[in-house]
Amino acid sequence: MSNAAVIPPPHIIARKRDGLKLNAAEIEAFVRGSTDGSWADYQLSAMLMAIYLRGLDTEETVALTRAMMNSGIVADLSAIPARKVDKHSTGGVGDKISLHLAPMIAACGVAVPMISGRGLGHTGGTLDKLESIPGFRIVVSLADYRALVARTGCALIGQTPELAPADKKLYALRDVTATVACRPLICASIMSKKLAEGIDALVLDVKFGGGAFMKTEAEARELAGMMVAIGNAMGKPTRALLTRMDEPLGHAVGNAVEIAESIDCLRGAGPADLMEVTLALGVEMLLLAGAARDEAGARAKLAAVIADGSALAKFREIVEAQGGDPRTVDQPEARLPAARFQRELRASQAGYVQSVAALDVALAALGLGAGRTRAEDSVDHAVGFTRLVKTGTLIRSGDTLAIIHANDEAKAEAAEATLRSAIVLGETPPERLPLVTDRVT
Ligand code: URA
Repeated sequence: MSNAAVIPPPHIIARKRDGLKLNAAEIEAFVRGSTDGSWADYQLSAMLMAIYLRGLDTEETVALTRAMMNSGIVADLSAIPARKVDKHSTGGVGDKISLHLAPMIAACGVAVPMISGRGLGHTGGTLDKLESIPGFRIVVSLADYRALVARTGCALIGQTPELAPADKKLYALRDVTATVACRPLICASIMSKKLAEGIDALVLDVKFGGGAFMKTEAEARELAGMMVAIGNAMGKPTRALLTRMDEPLGHAVGNAVEIAESIDCLRGAGPADLMEVTLALGVEMLLLAGAARDEAGARAKLAAVIADGSALAKFREIVEAQGGDPRTVDQPEARLPAARFQRELRASQAGYVQSVAALDVALAALGLGAGRTRAEDSVDHAVGFTRLVKTGTLIRSGDTLAIIHANDEAKAEAAEATLRSAIVLGETPPERLPLVTDRVT
């Protein structure tokens, strides 16, 4: 046993609280404490807040990532002949890209072993969305994970108890202690999971803007640079796209409603903004996997798997392999959970939509019950928004701005008020800003 095992937690917390640099042994003690119970939740939470306030330098961040990756097993998928590439987003609002991108890439013959998270802070979680599909299992053993990737070319799962268990614990605590939006913690959280899942290469969607954890492009670039450097240094070719997250992606925000929108994407009827980011990430995945020679070739492949129905068929296959009801893919309206009532939010004046504040929309969805405010909260899969209007749209008075799906009148009213103030109208069309702003390699 190393000396670090006996350093009392308050000592390590105090050193970070006072802005000192932690050594690898201290960081390992903290990470070990998160999985073996030797640190209480309040001590872990205090440490997370100390890191949030004081930061970690590159060396500390690498040590944290490594310790979190080594808190469990590093999966070996080398027996599966296909190239294995994953994509991970730093978190946004209405960001359901993983749900349809994974089957699109798998339909192109590249394996996608994808370990996702639950909602974090105000952002939605891929796992919560997947659990809207009746029967869908996101908790599987490591052996089942390997078998799923071998059989369908894809696994859409949560962390198995063996893979980066420290992240699972710390992620849940960060979610409820206001310590999410912290570059080193996001970097270590994402990279420890991704490096443990047995991939050959990784594409990152690093979001910035009002609905992201990084508010500015400069912050996102710094986070992307850190993650790309760690991935490449650990022998996994890694690329990042910087993408704008000022308004929700697509028209749906929630859980079941986002699954339905992803199915639209697989049917070739996805909203333009959502498909723009999806295809940009898909191109990077296919290029990294060596499955396309250039961007045009990658785009042609992605278009083909949608046009010929193979991406949709792959999603059906994945849903079935993970215990879900495959009929959901063909009849989402009939099979996905539905809220008790829907309420239409209508414009009280005319104008061009200037902005749809993603953070406010996310908070309104949280208020309906679509996410958690305490770790033990359960998620209401049926609630959320659809037909949410997009920036730049010309609205007439009385037009629909969104449909609110709710199970509680008072919550629906509160959501309506928040949404109304989130959607700003003006007289002239707003400037159209690019969604994908840069690529970090
Ligand atoms: N996604 C993760 O997996 N972890 C974070 O910290 C943020 C987004």
